[in-house]
Amino acid sequence: MKIIAIIIMALSGSLLASNIDKESGMIIGENWELVKANCTGCHAAPHVTSQRNDRDGWIEIIRWMQNKQGLWPFDADTENKILDYLTLNYGLVDNRAIQKVDKATGMIIDDNWELVKVSCTGCHSAKIVTQQGANRDTWLEIIRWMQEEQGLWQFDVSTENKILDYLSKNYSRSR
Ligand code: HEC
Ligand code: HEC
Repeated sequence: MKIIAIIIMALSGSLLASNIDKESGMIIGENWELVKANCTGCHAAPHVTSQRNDRDGWIEIIRWMQNKQGLWPFDADTENKILDYLTLNYGLVDNRAIQKVDKATGMIIDDNWELVKVSCTGCHSAKIVTQQGANRDTWLEIIRWMQEEQGLWQFDVSTENKILDYLSKNYSRSR
């Protein structure tokens, strides 16, 4: 089985995970170029990226710059996109990491997690699952490999899809 290939795919996935723009140091994510265009004209990007604020805090800063520092007004759509980017990437908490975790297994509690727990922790610990990062296709390959080589039973299509939904949503990256 292509265990090595899986490991390589998982590694390259995590390297791509947080891309940084070399010039500005900004996290490359949805709307980042909009924020770069609007927020790095008067001061450099580190003014922005060194801050951590919740959405209200970011609104306050923008209002203050608009009232006192000559920042132009934004239409509602643009302002929301800017706030989405700032709150996701420069928020008070890592918004991408707000996840409830089951204490016993360490598994992320999300739709279908109990189905995955029942299906996937009988032969090995949950850790074997949760430390693996893979996209949906690779998760399917892993399941097929366990079915062919390791005695894992077959799932009906609906069950398999639920398992794959959970795994590819919550364990797409190695941790
Ligand atoms: C029209 C010019 C201008 C633009 C455009 C601008 N700012 Fe500012 N900003 C300022 C000035 C002036 C200051 C205060 C002086 C300083 O700290 O250098 C400031 C300060 C800040 C600070 C520091 C506030 C503090 O607590 O000290 C942050 C954070 C910030 N800006 C974020 C942003 C973001 C986010 C955007 C894009 C939405 C943006 N800025 C766009 C002029 C601007
Ligand atoms: C019938 C037993 C069995 C069940 C049930 C089972 N596995 Fe496995 N699994 C194995 C065995 C055996 C190995 C290989 C030995 C080891 O690494 O402990 C393995 C290895 C793995 C690996 C590591 C693969 C690698 O690259 O080394 C992952 C990830 C994994 N299983 C995920 C799952 C998931 C997800 C499920 C639920 C769909 C599941 N397992 C259910 C038997 C099982």
